[in-house]
Amino acid sequence: MTKTLGLIGSGMIGGGLARLAVAAGLDVVLSNSRGPETLAGLVAELGEHARAATPTEAAQVSDLVVATIPLNAYRRLPAAALAGKVVIDTMNYYPERDNRIAELDAGTLTSSALVQRHLADSHVVKAFNSIDFRRLFTSARPAGAPDRSALPIAGDDEAAKAEVTMLLDRLGYDAVDIGTLAESWRSEPGTPVYVQPYLAAQPEGMSQDEMQRWFFETPGVPVPAGRVKELTGTAVRRSASEARATLARD
Ligand SMILES: NC(=O)c1ccc[n+]([C@@H]2O[C@H](COP(=O)([O-])OP(=O)(O)OC[C@H]3O[C@@H](n4cnc5c(N)ncnc54)[C@H](OP(=O)(O)O)[C@@H]3O)[C@@H](O)[C@H]2O)c1
Repeated sequence: MTKTLGLIGSGMIGGGLARLAVAAGLDVVLSNSRGPETLAGLVAELGEHARAATPTEAAQVSDLVVATIPLNAYRRLPAAALAGKVVIDTMNYYPERDNRIAELDAGTLTSSALVQRHLADSHVVKAFNSIDFRRLFTSARPAGAPDRSALPIAGDDEAAKAEVTMLLDRLGYDAVDIGTLAESWRSEPGTPVYVQPYLAAQPEGMSQDEMQRWFFETPGVPVPAGRVKELTGTAVRRSASEARATLARD
């Protein structure tokens, strides 16, 4: 069972996962691109079960590692230090931010398969990519709670997926196995399960400030496992540019 969770990337998703992990009794080792000293504030907030390190050290000392950085930096994930480990990939492809990746634009490869190709000796499991960072934190619930949500996971290694399922359970979520990394497009941006189902309907006509307040203060909508299965099961494969067009319309 996971005792120490490593985080490569300690921003909105990494920081949120670290908070959930510490609350669940795990130790966390945070890392980012600028160096451990820049994470002092977050480490102080999280308390004695948290510390900061370099990405390589976070990978080496942790039982399970979350890669949660912009996808354009995936080649900088320390492949040697991550060899033999289960690596959770939360990353999504946003071409405007990540620069174009031809295989992803063509839809011949999923973003997590690309990450797995770089981390050839690790077991990559896609998870936590399809919920926004605020709901990820506020919608977590203990096992058996009537308003507990489920999240899709995907990966090529069954044992790795079982380990990630246990981690999700501890952090406050049920897991729905949606298949291999090749099938993980079913939870990528623009698909029916992506972000929207976990969010309440957004009122029209809000100012930027009101929208921000609404985003932070509005509780999430519980999305049980059956609904995740239904949404991922009915997803239709699109190219990244078509998926982007869908997102722009939402
Ligand atoms: N935000 C969301 O709601 C959300 C939801 C689901 C999935 N995601 C996905 O999850 C990933 C992380 O998103 P985020 O919103 O948490 O991003 P973020 O807030 O911008 O944080 C990114 C983190 O990655 C670190 N980083 C960047 N390059 C790195 C490198 N080469 N080595 C180590 N650390 C590096 C950054 O450190 P420095 O600041 O030191 O550069 C920062 O801590 C993205 O791929 C995103 O698409 C985001």
